Amino acid sequence: MDTEYFQHKGINFASIVYSKERLDYLENKFQVQDDDVYIVTFPKSGTNWMMEIVSLIYSKGDISWCHQVPNYIRIPWLDVCGPGIKLVDECQSPRIFSSHLPIQMFPKSFFSSKAKVIYTARDPKDVLVSLYHFAHMSHVIKTPNNFDEFMEDFLQGRVPFGSWFDHIKGWIQMKNNCNFLFITYEDLKRDHREAVKKICAFLGKELEEPIIDLVVEQTSFNMMKSNNMSNNSSAPDYIMNVQNNIFMRKGINGDWKNHFTQKQKEYMDTVYQEKMNDLNVKFTWDENDDSL
Ligand code: A3P
Repeated sequence: MDTEYFQHKGINFASIVYSKERLDYLENKFQVQDDDVYIVTFPKSGTNWMMEIVSLIYSKGDISWCHQVPNYIRIPWLDVCGPGIKLVDECQSPRIFSSHLPIQMFPKSFFSSKAKVIYTARDPKDVLVSLYHFAHMSHVIKTPNNFDEFMEDFLQGRVPFGSWFDHIKGWIQMKNNCNFLFITYEDLKRDHREAVKKICAFLGKELEEPIIDLVVEQTSFNMMKSNNMSNNSSAPDYIMNVQNNIFMRKGINGDWKNHFTQKQKEYMDTVYQEKMNDLNVKFTWDENDDSL
């Protein structure tokens, strides 16, 4: 199946699941509620992981919700069309949604609300590798011709949801707002339990220590991989090629080292410096060992 894109405000979206009308509606008319929670990411940054954590925090550790209901029904995707619209429109308070929208397209009503956003970011080199593999199994992104070309598309923001650099630079402006939590995939990997506690505190949900342990256990890579309600194996086949479904692929930091040549690493570092040097924020991946 050939994936087609349309452009909305200069950003590519796959026609198969998104529409200009819906994006316009979401930005200008969608009514955010004060008790809403939004899980926002650039694709492949740990969205599904965060969905699982937040699901279990909201169910106070009752695992039946995560084992009986697919994640995209528990936490509907705000941005998608088709059957997804009904899921969003009929979602009952307290509503939890996922979204890949860049900040400039996010519902305007959010900015005068008390609703919360959890923004999960990830080392862009690992995002690129994860997206490259995803593009071979999903119909919401064009299948890459080769890794070099895909890297260029990623760095120039020609992939769906645009530039990783613009996405994070846009959302990080919210970092001092009390209804915004910035967290990284690397934070979750480094200390999963501490990260879950931080998310609970942000959401104002106090869980007893054994429940925290259970959330950590249930949201481990292997647990999620074996749970058909969390591993996207039940995603509709117009979105994902189920024969090829390795959505829960590796779940590690630094897999880019297995994909990049020295030249590609140096090139990406140069583009990263150029695009990020006006941002006075250091990220976990800026401090990690990045030698090949
Ligand atoms: P990899 O392709 O590097 O394995 P998203 O949910 O935003 O699409 O991100 C998908 C990435 O998150 C995939 O990365 C996937 O394996 C990883 N992931 C999902 N659940 C995870 C978990 N519990 N622990 C670690 N990584 C996880």
